[in-house]
Amino acid sequence: MKTVNIGIIGVGGIAKKHIKELLAYEDVKITAICDIDPKAIGEKNEQLQLPAEKCYENYLDLIADPDVDAVEICTPNHLHAPMAIDALKAGKPVNLEKPLAMSYGEALQILEAEKQSPAFGMTCFSYRFKPAVRFAKHLVDSGAIGRIVGLNVAYLKSSAFWEGRRLEWRFVKEYAASGVIGDLGVHLIDLAQLLAGNITELCATQNIVVTERKRLDSEESAPVETDDQCSFIAKFANGADGSFHITRCAIGHANTIRYDVYGNKGSLSFGLNNPTVLGVCQGEGDPKDLRLETVEVPKEFYLEQERAFVDAMKGKRDPLFPTLAHGAQGQQVVDAILQSAAERRWIEI
Ligand SMILES: NC(=O)c1ccc[n+]([C@@H]2O[C@H](COP(=O)([O-])OP(=O)(O)OC[C@H]3O[C@@H](n4cnc5c(N)ncnc54)[C@H](O)[C@@H]3O)[C@@H](O)[C@H]2O)c1
Repeated sequence: MKTVNIGIIGVGGIAKKHIKELLAYEDVKITAICDIDPKAIGEKNEQLQLPAEKCYENYLDLIADPDVDAVEICTPNHLHAPMAIDALKAGKPVNLEKPLAMSYGEALQILEAEKQSPAFGMTCFSYRFKPAVRFAKHLVDSGAIGRIVGLNVAYLKSSAFWEGRRLEWRFVKEYAASGVIGDLGVHLIDLAQLLAGNITELCATQNIVVTERKRLDSEESAPVETDDQCSFIAKFANGADGSFHITRCAIGHANTIRYDVYGNKGSLSFGLNNPTVLGVCQGEGDPKDLRLETVEVPKEFYLEQERAFVDAMKGKRDPLFPTLAHGAQGQQVVDAILQSAAERRWIEI
């Protein structure tokens, strides 16, 4: 079994999850890390114990390291495109965090770099690797709930109201491009398009609820520039309707995801706090007598995101593998949402 050597750029919050999964695989070695924050490097390297010369401050040095076969990019959004393009130009596969880029135009530049490269990329649409989602996709494809006619989706967090939260990069347009819609909503958009096909038009509203925060490096306050909540309704190519509410202003919810999918023969329901079960309603007879039942997801629908990336490098691509093109499609919808909310009108995609 050939060992794959992986380098990680940006070893903050989400990198922890990548590292945890990668360290469990016998055929993977994390050979280098990169961060501009020495504290983040120090903390991660307590766990990884890499030699000092494999802890980079400049990401180009990590990409150029011959001991790095593939690159994982876990940095703030504004760095995704330049870093991914440089890795692809160097011929190294890239596992890139979502949202793919700052705009659809930038996402297309990443796709162009992939086209010119012998390497490929993956978008970290992590929810594609929740067992309930994988099982739901299998049931939808097998016709279990018939034609999808509607989706009702919510992503609820309380993180806008956390005490003492400062003006991190997520609240600044220059670094994040958007707020909850790019951070959380893009996952739900990807799942919607995975299950129900493409969104063709939408109408959105956005709101900044906590309007200012103290800067990271001083007691001075500055405006929050990205959305704390976003709602939109969408039409799908197959005629289905969807409604989505995404917020970091829902006190009482640490991280609640509710996903209901309605077909003309049944329905599915999942809550990703409990991703190993799926609500399923299907069967013969009059729908007025049918109810949702909770079903344990069979083990064949379990696969970790990082395993899928490593497997793809070894020529084994999961059917639900989230490509960079899927990331770009999600970005296109995010851009349409931002335009719709700004112009207060329906936007066709
Ligand atoms: N897939 C998911 O479910 C999921 C969950 C959380 C975050 N994310 C995404 O992951 C990305 C990072 O989010 P996070 O919460 O880990 O942020 P974070 O701020 O905790 O970590 C980002 C890290 O990148 C480092 N960094 C910044 N500039 C750099 C540079 N030029 N070179 C190298 N390192 C640099 C920072 O110092 C920090 O350690 C975001 O795009 C976010 O949307 C995805």
